[in-house]
Amino acid sequence: MKGGKRLASGLLDDNAVVERILGHIRNRSTDMGEKVWREPVENYVSEKRFAAELKMLRRATTAFCPSAALPEKGSYVAREAAGVPILAVRGEDGKVRAFRNACRHRGMQVAAGTGCAKSFVCGYHGWTYRLDGSLRHIPHEHGFPGLEKETHGLVPVRAEEKLGLVFVTQEGKGTRDRTLEALPGLIEPGQAIFTSTENVVPANWKVLLEGFIEGYHIRATHKDTFFPYGFHNLNVVETFGRHSRVTYPFRRIEKLAAVPPAERRVDGLLTYVYHLFPNVLITVLSRHTNVVVLEPLTLGSTRQISYGLANRGQGGAGALKEVERDAQFVSQTGAAEDRVVVSAIQRGIGTGANKHFTFGRFEGAIVHFHRTLRAAL
Ligand code: FES
Ligand SMILES: [Fe+2]
Repeated sequence: MKGGKRLASGLLDDNAVVERILGHIRNRSTDMGEKVWREPVENYVSEKRFAAELKMLRRATTAFCPSAALPEKGSYVAREAAGVPILAVRGEDGKVRAFRNACRHRGMQVAAGTGCAKSFVCGYHGWTYRLDGSLRHIPHEHGFPGLEKETHGLVPVRAEEKLGLVFVTQEGKGTRDRTLEALPGLIEPGQAIFTSTENVVPANWKVLLEGFIEGYHIRATHKDTFFPYGFHNLNVVETFGRHSRVTYPFRRIEKLAAVPPAERRVDGLLTYVYHLFPNVLITVLSRHTNVVVLEPLTLGSTRQISYGLANRGQGGAGALKEVERDAQFVSQTGAAEDRVVVSAIQRGIGTGANKHFTFGRFEGAIVHFHRTLRAAL
């Protein structure tokens, strides 16, 4: 990568990003990766590869949900992560914990979806767990002589809050990710969730991911939606540790050429898309931020969990309407176009036409992802 002021994470600061973009506008250029990458299509259809990816996801420290999804004591989120039911909950002490969501009697899930609870009562026979996972109550306990309640709490997995997100590590100690820790909080305290959705998309999780982190498809795919406001194939592409950030400028950023660097503000003039390896995307838009978790269900289907958070200073009643209008525009136009594409790619994979996919020099963040994934497996 070329010059410019860098932050501790290794990413460029806003001013350096603007300089880079203005240069690209002048030169009709874009950031270019070093090499073309050929990814075998086998890696999208092999059950063995898919099992290895799920295993990697369970070993990885992955963002599970925004901290704002657990706003108060007893708030919980229960869903599958890498094929395993996981329950994350904010305890009486304010600390977030996560557990394998399986009753210690006979394995039933003790919570579903999202909500706020004082305790978790298993729906099968009523064993009851405290928010810290400990087993509080067994109905007709005399039927279980000798059973130690202390050793029959919900089984914890590692959970920690950082960058405004809850991270979970299902297996092993997880990896200390100093690059990630050096990032400024992507989501700041006070940013509240105004919408959350779940969709099952008929495509491999990697196909969905790839669509977020390159701007080479903007004109062809988003001709009447994003393209009129943005540029075609004009991006800043940065990698940091196992992660990446792709910057999508709006046309109106050109006006910054006339503003002294010290007075330039990027708000509303570009979109930052952070890919947090392996399967999470944070999209920082003008008025809101999207947190997207891609949960592989099968080789050809993915659950896409999306949270919309209002950006700082957008919380007022009137402003929230604008935030919602923005979010609707994105999800009903551009994102809908992307969903059509990824389903079609999945069918394309099934044709057997390609032995490999070729990711070019505009698609450097995808190349970084595949290289990192290969190393992590
Ligand atoms: S399985 Fe939970 S109480 Fe029986
Ligand atoms: Fe797109």
